[in-house]
Amino acid sequence: MTDRIQILKPNDFHMHLRQEEVLIHTAPWAAHWFHYVLAMPNLIPPIRDAHDASDYAFHIFEVVHDHMKASRVEPRIDRTRFETLTSVMLTPETTAKMLSSTNHRVTAVKLYPRGATTNSDHGISISEIARKHELFDFMQEHGFVLCIHAEDPDAPVLQREQRFLPIVYELVRAFPRLKIVIEHVSTAEGVAFVLDMPVTVGATITAHHLLLTLDDLLGSTLDPHSFCKPVVKTEADRQKLLEAAFAGHPKFFFGSDSAPHRTEQKQQKGSAGIFSAPTAVPLMLDLFHRSGVLEMFDRFMSTNGADFYDLPHNEEYLTFERKELPPGTYRVPGYEVLQADLPLPWSLLTT
Ligand code: DOR
Ligand code: ZN
Repeated sequence: MTDRIQILKPNDFHMHLRQEEVLIHTAPWAAHWFHYVLAMPNLIPPIRDAHDASDYAFHIFEVVHDHMKASRVEPRIDRTRFETLTSVMLTPETTAKMLSSTNHRVTAVKLYPRGATTNSDHGISISEIARKHELFDFMQEHGFVLCIHAEDPDAPVLQREQRFLPIVYELVRAFPRLKIVIEHVSTAEGVAFVLDMPVTVGATITAHHLLLTLDDLLGSTLDPHSFCKPVVKTEADRQKLLEAAFAGHPKFFFGSDSAPHRTEQKQQKGSAGIFSAPTAVPLMLDLFHRSGVLEMFDRFMSTNGADFYDLPHNEEYLTFERKELPPGTYRVPGYEVLQADLPLPWSLLTT
């Protein structure tokens, strides 16, 4: 029986690290588990241009560095390997010039349909997308990736993703060399769509959409900690997501959409977002191991995304041993972490 597993250090191509005191909780976990992390721009105010993005990446670096200096504070970090990739929010004012500055080039532009999710008020409405064609043309010529929160906020909640797919289709036709990522794909239709599209179209899949369904959210008592946008879907949808992740198909890669909100904010306001950064890697390792597809783990968690974003593969490995971690090992005070209270069968070996 396997009692040790070695994996390539994973990448997370969709993480909400937030700002101020929340960042102090997220950045160390990002640097602990991941090599590349694509940081989402929906801060208050949002990351709008390469200057904001550069400041933000530097701030994340500082938080990670301070954490390392405070010796023996968990989680342990190998900062030398951690790299923040940045994104800007697509607003009606975004121009090509805003994507790079003298010292920084953003990796991606994030399209949030206005009102679709947390802090998306500065996003663009669906009718405004057509006005950004000049920008998309520039992006395809210069290798910037368009990341899309592919939900139509005016559609019924369970149909929001399907309703947005024709809009993506039009973009793919108009910009055949533009790399597009459907973020946190959540439905069987979304998976089929991505498979049907040319190689320029990929998708991230989250840990929570691979683990949870509507029954976890509202099958017994309403669980605000399982609430996110897009909402988790049916077991049939989850099975299609698992198939896509387990097949090692190059179009699908990990993006956690880890999105912390304080526990009382989740309970009282029902804010959308699941905080998974501390547990996502051990949970995914357990899922792939239990499902007998461990050989696909590195593709989904590390190399598929790197290839899509034209980044070198990671060279660092993490080794796990079969040793049950006591529930709560990855708890974060003030926040509910995805499945932090379940025992995790694999623990990271610290060398
Ligand atoms: O559930 C979500 N929370 N989905 C998103 O798209 C945004 C995120 C957040 O920022 O809280
Ligand atoms: Zn997100």
